[in-house]
Amino acid sequence: MPTRVRSYSKINLGLAIGPTRADGFHGLTTLYQTLELHDVVTVSARRLGAGAASVLTLESNHPKVPTDATNTCWKMVERCLIRMGIEAEVSIHIQKNLPVQGGLGAGSANAVAALIGLEHELNQALPGPERLELAAEIGSDVPLFLLGGAVLGLGRGEEVYPMPDLPATWCVVVAPPVGVSTPQAFRDWDALHARSAGSAPGPKPSGSALTNLQHSDRLKELSRTLASVCAEPGTSGVFSVVNRTAEDLAENPLLALVRTGIENDFEEVVFPQHPSLREIKRLLVGSESGQSEAVYAALSGSGSALFGLYRSREDAEAAQQRVLRNAAPGAESGIGAFVTKTLPRAAYWRSMFA
Ligand code: C5P
Repeated sequence: MPTRVRSYSKINLGLAIGPTRADGFHGLTTLYQTLELHDVVTVSARRLGAGAASVLTLESNHPKVPTDATNTCWKMVERCLIRMGIEAEVSIHIQKNLPVQGGLGAGSANAVAALIGLEHELNQALPGPERLELAAEIGSDVPLFLLGGAVLGLGRGEEVYPMPDLPATWCVVVAPPVGVSTPQAFRDWDALHARSAGSAPGPKPSGSALTNLQHSDRLKELSRTLASVCAEPGTSGVFSVVNRTAEDLAENPLLALVRTGIENDFEEVVFPQHPSLREIKRLLVGSESGQSEAVYAALSGSGSALFGLYRSREDAEAAQQRVLRNAAPGAESGIGAFVTKTLPRAAYWRSMFA
C-alpha cells in the first residue's frame, strides 16, 4: 500500500534578516507557523536485493513541478537511501493543491513528506538529529517541517526550535501571479542597507562592518521579542492558552506578538519592486473599512505569497473576497486567495497521514 502524507505549508510570523555569513547565506531570525493548507505526497517503496541500484520515479498533477533530480523530494529520498544504506525502487506522486509561488515552503514541505512516506514504507527511520541534518542539506526552510506548529528559526533558518503553540487561528493566504527570487531579494536587501550605511554621517566603522552590526541587532531584537512573548513573567506563558479558541484573543499570545511590532524585513525590498503586493497586504489588513480587520498581515518569506490572520471565519472570508474583488488589474488574473487555519504541532502530527 502506498503511503499518503499531507505536506502542510508555512508562513513566517516576523522575519529579521541579519548579516551575510562566510558561507554566503544570511543570518535570520523568524517564527515559522504551519498551516492546514497542504499538498499530498504519495510514496511507494520496495527494497531491492544486494547489488541492485536504487530507481526513483516522480510524477505530479501540476505541470510546473520538476519530475527529475532537481525536485526536493527526489533529493531527499536519494540522500535518505544513501544514509540508510538501502537500495530501493521508489515512486513519488505530488498532488499540488498549494500554489507553486514562493513563501509558503511548499517544495520544502514536500521533501519532508517524502521522507516521512519513505520511512513509513521501509519501516525504518533515520535517527532524529540525522533527519534534521539531512533536511538542512536540502534547504534552509526544510527542517521546520520536522517539528511543525510554531517554530523558531535561527542560523540561516535551518536551526529550528519548537515554540509553545499559538491557538489555531483563521488565515487567508494569497498567491499573486508574481515571482520573487529569494537569492535576489537577499541581494537587494544587502544593496539597500550597504547604501544606507554608506550615507551615515561622521567617521564610523566601514560600510559593511556597520551594516553587519545593525543586522545582528535586528536578529537579537526579534529573538528577544519572541522569547518574551512566550514566557511573560508571572504567567505560565503561552502554554496556558494552547487550548483556548482563536476567538478568545484578549490574551492570545499572537496579539501580544503583533503588539510588539513584528514585521518581515523582505517587505522593504519586495514591495517597492512589486507595488501590487503592497496593495494586497492593504486589502488583507482591511483597516479602512474598519471591518473584518486582520490581527496581522504580512508577506510570507520572500514572497510572493502573503497572508492575513483573523478573529473569525467570517472575517477571513470577507478578506478573501476583498482581495479577489479589488486586487489591482494585472495582478488580478491568476490570483489565488485561500481561507485556511494555522496548524498547531499536535494537530500537525495527528493528521499527517492522509
Ligand atoms: O536554503 P535555500 O535553498 O532555501 O536558499 C536559497 C537561496 O537563498 C540560497 O542559495 C541563498 O542565496 C539565499 N539564502 C540566504 N540566506 C538564507 C537563506 C537563503 O542568503 N538564510
